[in-house]
Amino acid sequence: MKTKNARRIGLMTGGGDAPGLNGIIEATVRSLAQYDVEVVGICDGFEGIFDRRTISLDSEKVLNAHTFAGTLLGSSNKGSTKGREAEFLKAFAELKLEGLIAAGGDGTFEGLSRVIQGLKLIGVPKTIDNDLQGTDVTFGFDTACAVVAEAVDALRATADAHRRVFVVEAMGRTTGWIALGGGLASYADAILVPERPVSREALKKHLVGLQALKRRGAMIVVGEGAHFESESPRIAFRVEGSMQADRFGGISQDIARWIEKETGWEARNVVLGHLQRSRHPTTTDRFMTAAMGVEVGRMVQENDWGKAVVMRNGNIARAPLSDLMKPPRLIDGNHRWVKVAQSMGIFI
Ligand code: F6P
Repeated sequence: MKTKNARRIGLMTGGGDAPGLNGIIEATVRSLAQYDVEVVGICDGFEGIFDRRTISLDSEKVLNAHTFAGTLLGSSNKGSTKGREAEFLKAFAELKLEGLIAAGGDGTFEGLSRVIQGLKLIGVPKTIDNDLQGTDVTFGFDTACAVVAEAVDALRATADAHRRVFVVEAMGRTTGWIALGGGLASYADAILVPERPVSREALKKHLVGLQALKRRGAMIVVGEGAHFESESPRIAFRVEGSMQADRFGGISQDIARWIEKETGWEARNVVLGHLQRSRHPTTTDRFMTAAMGVEVGRMVQENDWGKAVVMRNGNIARAPLSDLMKPPRLIDGNHRWVKVAQSMGIFI
């Protein structure tokens, strides 16, 4: 039960949803309840601020939200504060909130960077793509990798039954973290990521080598933004009004047809798409969101605004918000997962 003098803080989720957002909401609301702080949920990202659409949250309302994907508050990866900075700050002032906790990705923080001077803000980095700077890992990523690994594990049965190659397409935009994590966790035969364009000849050689070993099926995991050497990523369509308007997609289909033509090995493709954002969060993601929500509670209690809660070397830490507002974090060729994959004979 909140007292009459309880502090009121806003909480919003912005950008594409990621498994774990509801865990952040539940952990933050429950931890702030301990300090007699009322949390007001802002609906549908920035839209909720511009339109003054909010819902009041309390521990009972958020109980067990952590178990499912999506976000209780709604989200949007369209809309920005660009050119509407004064309008945004006026609307926020009218909500009579002391500060704002924002869980979002690059688009959300880019939008907030335009109004940061007039706002008390705490940032929570989120994206299944795992490509935000300033944090070692984002929640939602482990769950997305689990979806990929579970799909590859399952598809192996039909691949072997029919002597087929399966090309499984993972999300991730311009980075291949999900393809790498999911492909490695499922011991895929080949992993193709945007950061490491390979030659068609090299992939063909690898597949012909597997055929020589009399392998019945083979599994390839490809990041949606991957492309071969001297070629470009495959853009499926554009979403006007979205900060990153290009939507990647279709590379797995192209590769499957090419494999059939070049090797005679029958091939099929599977695009996992938004299933990667919809699975209930893994325990790894739940530990992270519980700990992050509790840290956010402490930051509000200590009036430690203008910072983000991040993961550094396996621990929760606080970092300048500007750390999150940098270009995407790419896979380094020396990353331990790349090395492990190579040491196992996985083509990458
Ligand atoms: O950034 C998260 C992400 O799921 C990307 O991996 C993907 O390319 C994109 O969002 C899809 O966006 P939308 O939900 O607008 O189709």
